[in-house]
Amino acid sequence: MCAKVKTTFFCSNCGAQSAKWIGRCPSCGEWNTYHEEVLQKETGNKSYVSKREGGSRPKLIHEIEASQEKRRSSGSNELDRVLGGGIVPGAIMLIGGEPGIGKSTLMLQIALQIKNTRVLYISGEESELQLRMRATRLGMNHSECYILTETDTAVIFKQIEELDPGMVVIDSIQTLTTPSIESSAGSISQIRETAAEFQRYAKESAVPVFLIGHITKDGSLAGPKILEHMVDTVLQFEGDHNHVYRILRAAKNRFGSTSELGIFEMRGNGLREVANPSEILLSQRDEEVSGVTISATIEGQRPILIEAQALVSSAAYGTPQRSSNGFDFKRLNMLLAVLEKRNGFRISAKDVFLNITGGIKVDDPAIDLGVICAVLSSNEDIPISEKACFAAEVGLTGEIRPVTRIEQRITEAAKLGFEQIFVSKYNMKGLEKKDFGIKIHPVSRIDQVFRLLFG
Ligand code: TYD
Ligand code: MG
Repeated sequence: MCAKVKTTFFCSNCGAQSAKWIGRCPSCGEWNTYHEEVLQKETGNKSYVSKREGGSRPKLIHEIEASQEKRRSSGSNELDRVLGGGIVPGAIMLIGGEPGIGKSTLMLQIALQIKNTRVLYISGEESELQLRMRATRLGMNHSECYILTETDTAVIFKQIEELDPGMVVIDSIQTLTTPSIESSAGSISQIRETAAEFQRYAKESAVPVFLIGHITKDGSLAGPKILEHMVDTVLQFEGDHNHVYRILRAAKNRFGSTSELGIFEMRGNGLREVANPSEILLSQRDEEVSGVTISATIEGQRPILIEAQALVSSAAYGTPQRSSNGFDFKRLNMLLAVLEKRNGFRISAKDVFLNITGGIKVDDPAIDLGVICAVLSSNEDIPISEKACFAAEVGLTGEIRPVTRIEQRITEAAKLGFEQIFVSKYNMKGLEKKDFGIKIHPVSRIDQVFRLLFG
């Protein structure tokens, strides 16, 4: 009965397989990523057995019942929006994030607040008592939420069959093991196989499954990339530990767009949804200080006002320092080069530090003008009115370029009590006649903005 132990080598970056060790993965090009894993498949010992007899057969596309796509609310507006309008039946969703960011808290909270659904929360990381204590802390325990502390998928699927849940949460995929494979929990072949079992289960039973996954230091999901291919949706939960705000975004979504953001605030009693992010992202100021600007950006479908802070000072040593938090570092260097070359500001000999408040990362180019004005304001040491805001991209020649959905940005700025907004003059088509209740400055060049702001 002593079967020969089979081993294979897996690339820990992309999941590629090889019979022998190789230094450089031919599939993804990473060095030193191959690890040996024990692999012993015994067919007939699968934890999840397909219930379909004879496999599936082709169906005409219009014969497929559309009712299966009916989405259900998770009870959290922010999560629903990031998912593209609620949970799709049979969807398998991966939530990745650094340890301690709040993945377990978020999923337990969803499990406790989702309506009319029996939830099975499977934890391989925490004990029943710990989960119970957390649930008490979250202050919700009138729901149909079952806890199972188990890591063996054979046992898990047996319990699932008995309980017949309407939603399953796995915390975390790295702790699961399937008896059909001998390597240890968290190894690539285990992750791949256990995720595949849950994928088959989700698709056949139409029960949505959330998998929690850890991410590595460099920010990618631990375990093979293949995990990202297997699931329908990859959600990332981010934010830094010093900030109370957490951002949920979709890195991949088969059922919706990936541009939506969900914002939460970590409190003593769990995560609170932040319905109006603009108000909290602006830091409270008692007096006007230089180097601070507000930009009207758009994340997904939602306008968000975001604050940029810049500090420009004479370099203490030979090489000036540059640093950027929440804004692309290369883009900051480009904007500084534009200021230097096109407008003659002597910035190259100075230290420049840029920070986007709230720990948010901004991709929207509409923040360019705000960043430039924050740098100029700090450089001149003249504050910019806190009632002014910006929404424009800046090009390499120093021209101020139009951005998308300008009306929405202006409306949001006006709604939050701003009195003036700087936009590209090429954005003004059709806007002249409208009254937004805010003064609009159409501008086309940086020197023009400079004169308007600093005289
Ligand atoms: P957790 O959900 O355990 O993180 P993860 O599963 O991603 O590893 O979150 C742990 C952190 O959240 C911990 O540092 C404490 C904090 N926290 C709160 O601030 N308030 C709360 O109500 C809870 C439950 C946790
Ligand atoms: Mg956890």
